[in-house]
Amino acid sequence: MKFFVDTADLDEIRDLAATGLLDGVTTNPSLIAKSGRNMLDVIAEICDVVPGPVSAEVTATDVETMLLEADVLASVASNVAVKVPLTPDGLKTCRALRDRDIMVNVTLCFSAAQAILAAKAGATFISPFVGRLDDIGLRGLDLIDEIVDIYEQFDTFDTEVLVASIRGPAHVVEAARSGAHVATLPPNVLRALYNHPLTDKGLDAFLKDWEATGQSILEQAAQRSAAE
Ligand code: E4P
Repeated sequence: MKFFVDTADLDEIRDLAATGLLDGVTTNPSLIAKSGRNMLDVIAEICDVVPGPVSAEVTATDVETMLLEADVLASVASNVAVKVPLTPDGLKTCRALRDRDIMVNVTLCFSAAQAILAAKAGATFISPFVGRLDDIGLRGLDLIDEIVDIYEQFDTFDTEVLVASIRGPAHVVEAARSGAHVATLPPNVLRALYNHPLTDKGLDAFLKDWEATGQSILEQAAQRSAAE
């Protein structure tokens, strides 16, 4: 499963890229607004840090203007994936961009029917929002099961399921169990994946026992090479 990070915060992106676990980045207009920075500058900088797909979202709602904006966004770097909303105009834009081999992330997907349309429009990624479905009393992860299952029925669908609106590690684990290709994680959720109280407790005990020996691996290595 690929991990993308869902943020436009460059400090967070640099920090998480250093883990070696980051395969891409997703942004949206709200995240760009939160960064307080110029969108094209932010996207260019993110693309410099992360070589994988970086989603940058159009803000127009008609196909003509979406295509103009998409051209601008795609010209920022070759790893930009243009993000379009799951609307009739968004999917027309998707088809046109895919015909030109530009990566497209179709966002704001809340049903399997919408996901089928996106695959037929040739989307590179479909972004179903699990957390926002949970928020209205539905089980967002059921949608992931459904979409993965449907896409597997058709060799012609090569759209990757990008699980979005993730709220915690359980969403990531269940999405992986479903076979989703990508999860886009808020930075705090990516960091939370490392945590387990037994890891901390076990490490404390190992270090305490080790300290009691008075040994040092590096000192021993230095002694051995001095003796050679
Ligand atoms: C995905 O690309 C979206 O940016 C994001 O996952 C939305 O998540 P939210 O529901 O937490 O805003």
